[in-house]
Amino acid sequence: MRENLEPQPFDLLIFGGTGDLATRKLLPSLFKAHEAQTLHPDGKIWGISRQSLSQDDYRNLANQQARQFITDIEKVDEEVWQDFCKRLDYIQLDAKNAEDFKKLAEKIPPQCPRVTISYLATSPNLFEDICRGLDAVGLNHACARVVLEKPLGTDLKSNIAINESVANYFDESQIFRIDHYQGKESVQNLLMMRFANIWFEPLWRREWISHVQITIAESVGIEGRGAFYDHIGALRDMVQNHIIQLICSIAMEAPSSMDADAIRDEKLKVINSLKPFSEADVSLYTVRGQYKSGVIDGKKVKGFHEEDNIAPNSQTETFVAIKTEIENWRWAGVPFFLRTGKRMQERLAEIVIQFRDVPHQLFPRVAGNYAPNQLVIRLQPEDSMTLHLFAKRLGNNMVARPASLNLDFFKAFEGRRTSAYERLLLDAIDGDQTLFVRRDEQEAAWRWVAPIMKVWDESEEPPKQYTAGTWGPASASALLARDGVVWHEEQ
Ligand code: BG6
Repeated sequence: MRENLEPQPFDLLIFGGTGDLATRKLLPSLFKAHEAQTLHPDGKIWGISRQSLSQDDYRNLANQQARQFITDIEKVDEEVWQDFCKRLDYIQLDAKNAEDFKKLAEKIPPQCPRVTISYLATSPNLFEDICRGLDAVGLNHACARVVLEKPLGTDLKSNIAINESVANYFDESQIFRIDHYQGKESVQNLLMMRFANIWFEPLWRREWISHVQITIAESVGIEGRGAFYDHIGALRDMVQNHIIQLICSIAMEAPSSMDADAIRDEKLKVINSLKPFSEADVSLYTVRGQYKSGVIDGKKVKGFHEEDNIAPNSQTETFVAIKTEIENWRWAGVPFFLRTGKRMQERLAEIVIQFRDVPHQLFPRVAGNYAPNQLVIRLQPEDSMTLHLFAKRLGNNMVARPASLNLDFFKAFEGRRTSAYERLLLDAIDGDQTLFVRRDEQEAAWRWVAPIMKVWDESEEPPKQYTAGTWGPASASALLARDGVVWHEEQ
């Protein structure tokens, strides 16, 4: 979103600067931006945590723990890396200690128009303390922003409490709630495709679309995050945020402009139009699953219950499938099938827009069970858009065979692959909120998942088991079968 923007000088404060997010995502993404010269030369990155580290220690930590996560690591130029490290500095700070914030402000005095971005990659329990501390030393000035990393609560109530505590010190226009799925190339392309071309719009509605599928499948498990994940589960981890945001990009009306609030107003309308779940609906239209041991890529992997730090008899879901609808004129009656899970057969994130069939078949189709026209938008592993249609089979007979038009964004266009985090970090530095989630959107999303959480939390029925390395429990296929639909990979 940063066409024609001049990079601005900045101080980026990473609270939780030695943690996983900082080392796996933030520092590697910032390095890529540095390498591409999209950061202002006078932009400093400050790691902040309670540990006692020197500037050199922090640079070493970046070298040892973050560098390995840089994409195309083999192409990293040593000189460019050393130059990047010059941006890095470190501040020891205890979020509960007012004196530490004074020391922070001595190093980073409030000096608008220089931008200060405080990236809160800590537990949300600390958000209030951090924001209060920043406020006390004036680091919430007009050129200051705060980036909030998920999970922002575990339900509507805790989400409101977190939002309130930040809102006491920062204005909504300064708050950047990150949902990294919004920064993915294909998600941005979905908007471009819908609103820069004329031909999808007339078809993009209930009359011509029979259903929509969204899948975010991961082959990884919980990756050592057992203690965290066991309290969260897939609904809170993936559906409340990433999947709902994807629904918004698919279903929203054209905004009046690319202004952040014009877009977010439209997204909010979609979330508010999602059909509310009654308790009875939850058992009819949702499936929760949990993986048991299995084989992925030829390797045996543990079941969820055998992972570390999982409570005995844990009912936490590692897989969710949901059927929902959007109750408005454009979408009424079109099922949206949603699915996400850990330890599934492969890493795959895609949106399938299934169009209706032609009203009258004139041509015989080659043998096989072909779905009518489909638009498949892949977010992972590649970023692409494929239009499945019918064309004439070569030869004398008018026989229809399936064909596809494929656009792989990175193969088709020259240019550098920008990661979601890199894009979003640059947007936060530029002060562009378009891809960030507004408070009302987030609260509406929590409101929508609340009845599902309630029923599941109170239910004694255990999640459906699925073998690691599969596409989830059989009930997820049965959920679609009732509508005569099958998941895309089963077609
Ligand atoms: C995060 C979740 O938000 O998204 C993780 O907390 C998940 O559990 C990750 O693995 C998936 O992101 P991506 O970009 O790898 O699909």
